[in-house]
Amino acid sequence: MKSLALFAALFVLVATAHAQRVDLIANSDGRKTVSLDGQWQMIVDPYESGYYDYRYQPNPNGYFKNAKPKTKSDLVEYDFDSSNTLKVPGDWNTQSDQLFFYEGSVWYKKSFDYQHRPDTRVFVYFGAANYLADVYLNGEKLGQHEGGFTPFNFEITNLIRDSGNFLIVKVDNKRRRDAVPTLMTDWWNYGGLTRYVKLIETPATFVSDYFIQLQKGSRDRVVGWVKLNGAQFSQRIIVRIPEAGVAKAFDTDASGKALVDFTAGLKLWSPENPKLYDVTIEAETDQVRDQIGFRSIETRGTDILLNGRPIFLRGVSIHEEAPFRSGRAYSREDAQTLLGWAKELGANFVRLAHYPHNEHMVREADRLGIMVWSEIPVYWTILWDNPATLANARNQLSEMIARDKNRAAVVIWSMANETPLSDARLSFLRNLAGFARSLDSTRLISAAMERHYVGATTQMIDDPLGEYLDVLGCNEYVGWYDGLPEKADRLEWRTKYEKPLIMSEFGGDALFGNHGDVLARWTEEYQENLYRHQIAMLKRIPFLRGTTPWILMDFRSPRRPLPRIQDYWNRKGLISNRGEKKKAFYVLQRYYSDLQK
Ligand code: GCU
Repeated sequence: MKSLALFAALFVLVATAHAQRVDLIANSDGRKTVSLDGQWQMIVDPYESGYYDYRYQPNPNGYFKNAKPKTKSDLVEYDFDSSNTLKVPGDWNTQSDQLFFYEGSVWYKKSFDYQHRPDTRVFVYFGAANYLADVYLNGEKLGQHEGGFTPFNFEITNLIRDSGNFLIVKVDNKRRRDAVPTLMTDWWNYGGLTRYVKLIETPATFVSDYFIQLQKGSRDRVVGWVKLNGAQFSQRIIVRIPEAGVAKAFDTDASGKALVDFTAGLKLWSPENPKLYDVTIEAETDQVRDQIGFRSIETRGTDILLNGRPIFLRGVSIHEEAPFRSGRAYSREDAQTLLGWAKELGANFVRLAHYPHNEHMVREADRLGIMVWSEIPVYWTILWDNPATLANARNQLSEMIARDKNRAAVVIWSMANETPLSDARLSFLRNLAGFARSLDSTRLISAAMERHYVGATTQMIDDPLGEYLDVLGCNEYVGWYDGLPEKADRLEWRTKYEKPLIMSEFGGDALFGNHGDVLARWTEEYQENLYRHQIAMLKRIPFLRGTTPWILMDFRSPRRPLPRIQDYWNRKGLISNRGEKKKAFYVLQRYYSDLQK
């Protein structure tokens, strides 16, 4: 009881740390927005001397004041306007060799003018900032955001001025034991304002958020809600789907929330027919538009049902690594390239690992008809019994769901990856799974778990976490970390759960163009052979309903220093970071085309 009260207090603390922090505004069309992307002045501040004084106390005259000497005698020891710049969106590591390995604080500054129209409100929206962002406008603190892969916004209506605004963000990507993720990851800790930044203008009372999806298991009943933010809470809301002849009215309650519930004859979204409808949400003071697909996703025993029919999820795992140029991917083009390759593989599903990817990825998946597994970075050895870590993970989970809850493509929320068994871990992950269900009852809950041996040849999936999941995820590296590829031929898989399994990771490293015999590690032939044995094994697993091998494209990792082979790249890609397809790519492509016959 005491720890729950402590946790509740901490959650409130995290959520309301700073007044201007407001619930995530739905990213819909029909709003006036101003992009703040481009070159930002920057100051690299490893000792955080722009934030703390020499007594390590927060300095009220820190760099966020953007001070300028007024006289020749004034002492000001920084100057954004004569400092270097960094491109936003973008990680700092691949923009300057000096910052390649840099982990610490960097200050960003953007100056802008803004014609503030009367009776409107203005918000600043960040697609993401890795990892801890302290945000200031015109010298005033707007707030702080923790977590490198989810969006956040602040209201700046009362602070913005017509000219000479300066938005300053201190971004700190230092890894911490109590953070999410924690100290050790197998991906590059790209720091910075890694996704777009924009200003959003709204009416005084506006449609701040909405959830419009089919009820779980239904193929014609749309349930959800629309939320207003502002003073005029009691309004009539009309949900319009012109193409489907839908125009339904609902009234808001005292808190400005309207419950939506109607039936309609809709073409269902699927990989074969990724139908998206133009949906308009009209309030008396505001109107927004979005493109939404409608599909149902559920399980029945060991089957996964899309729109009521059993489906096999032919997938691949993807890191948010930019193709060709490397660094954190962020653009629509990056998404089109990565998902285009997945399509070429014959995939109808992708696992976006190990954190929520940028919004272009999920919206492109919506358009291309590719189902998505989306995950929060509860990765390896998180500090399970630390209430602040749980609050942080819950916050990232709620932001991930808030941003993508209207995307038909997203079918699975994943709570974690490869986390070691313990009671503290189980209660932590149970908490997250329950929270996810409370936020979104329409999708499936999963996690990437591990298996263990029973005897020499039986692989058992009986992680107690499985109890709380709809779909079992399991990572296995038979043939790479566990024996040689032919070992898979002798293995039999079992589970204590009557639930569908997605083999969420398997694979091995190969350097593109490195050739040798099938037992020579790092060669394309070894990887190709490994995939052959894996696929033969997978076909023998009766409750297998999906696969997301590790991984579509090579990605940077600080844990992979092997010279002339890895050079800080994880080489388990089926495609090199220069877009070159390895032999194993075609083995998986053939498996996926066979599955479609
Ligand atoms: C792990 C982990 C991945 C990692 C992969 C590997 O299972 O989940 O993040 O990159 O194995 O070792 O290549």
